[in-house]
Amino acid sequence: MQNVSLFSQIAGASSRTVRIVVDGSPVDVPEHANVAAALLCAGVNVFRHTPVGAAPRAPYCMMGVCFDCLVEIDGLPNQQACMVRVRDGMKVKAMAGARALV
Ligand code: FES
Repeated sequence: MQNVSLFSQIAGASSRTVRIVVDGSPVDVPEHANVAAALLCAGVNVFRHTPVGAAPRAPYCMMGVCFDCLVEIDGLPNQQACMVRVRDGMKVKAMAGARALV
């Protein structure tokens, strides 16, 4: 995942964090954030690449509609990052192309 920070927490928000692992690197993120918000605050701005054309994608709607925030969470592909709350120890990976059929 590429890291360029465009987002930050609002002033006065809780400073408590949990540690998640993003593409193998530990990152401290706000404890009440969803995965998409946490990754954006951490400077991640590419969450996946499309199966056709490998175009980069990042969250757009932040409410479960657009599916541009799909990531792998704890080994499960195609999870909507905007709909899942962070948890200490969570492992998040960027998605590249279509998921494997099982
Ligand atoms: S950002 Fe649109 S579904 Fe998650």
